[in-house]
Amino acid sequence: MRDITERRKAEEELARQAKELARANSELCVVNKELEAFSYSVSHDLRAPLRSIDGFSKAVLEDYEQKLDDQGKDYLHRVRAASQRMAQLIDDLLNLSRVTRSDMHHDSVNLSAMAWSIVTELQKIQPDRQVDFVIAEGLMAKGDSRLLKLVLENLLNNAWKFTGKHTHAKIEFGAAPCNGKTAYFVRDDGAGFDMAYAEKLFIPFQRLHGVTEFAGTGIGLALIQRIIHRHGGHVWAEGKVEQGATFYFTLQ
Ligand SMILES: Nc1ncnc2c1ncn2[C@@H]1O[C@H](COP(=O)(O)OP(=O)(O)OP(=O)(O)O)[C@@H](O)[C@H]1O
Ligand SMILES: [Mg+2]
Repeated sequence: MRDITERRKAEEELARQAKELARANSELCVVNKELEAFSYSVSHDLRAPLRSIDGFSKAVLEDYEQKLDDQGKDYLHRVRAASQRMAQLIDDLLNLSRVTRSDMHHDSVNLSAMAWSIVTELQKIQPDRQVDFVIAEGLMAKGDSRLLKLVLENLLNNAWKFTGKHTHAKIEFGAAPCNGKTAYFVRDDGAGFDMAYAEKLFIPFQRLHGVTEFAGTGIGLALIQRIIHRHGGHVWAEGKVEQGATFYFTLQ
């Protein structure tokens, strides 16, 4: 008799907890959606006044050229440069929030072919650079092809950029088994980074290299992490200063 009462009590408690969890979960979903909509509209609405600042600075520079001395012109050039940089940051934020808002497709994607077409473009833009590409053949994956292309583009662009100070470089795209899953990786032998900061790299606008050393805003890896998480996978990095970097990701 007592056993039955206790079991019923336990069951009731379990049901109550499940209900509570479902409620908290749906609340979180709503808050998350609100936050996404908020950051989207903020970044969207910030662009208009910024265009005015840039446009009117340009107009003053052009229409009042005779009346401005060199210092005045220099100040206006700085206003323009800063507003253009801010516009770039806003665009990056917009792209980041778009990644979580867009619908997911489930395609069968040929990652090897994708990687080849990306590196062919990179080589075309800077034909003088001596880079050996080693791309594993026939690597297929299930996922959203547009989003996975963004992942490969950002990883290969980084590999290309951070090997830019070396006369010869090697960039690899491959796959390796990892805890029963496939871990795809992009490896380079470039500038590398200090492993102490390996987690920080994925935070928006976090950079380990100065803008004068290597250009960029620090949004690429944050974008990659969101895409990989949307696919139910993980992304992580290994590196050593001046001895290159490897970025791994799994899907689902
Ligand atoms: N292949 C790499 N080798 C060495 N460091 C890297 C590599 N990839 C990324 N990093 C480090 O991680 C930081 C963040 O990378 P991320 O791609 O997010 O930004 P970015 O390339 O600097 O700018 P963006 O991608 O927005 O143009 C980089 O600034 C750099 O310090
Ligand atoms: Mg990048």
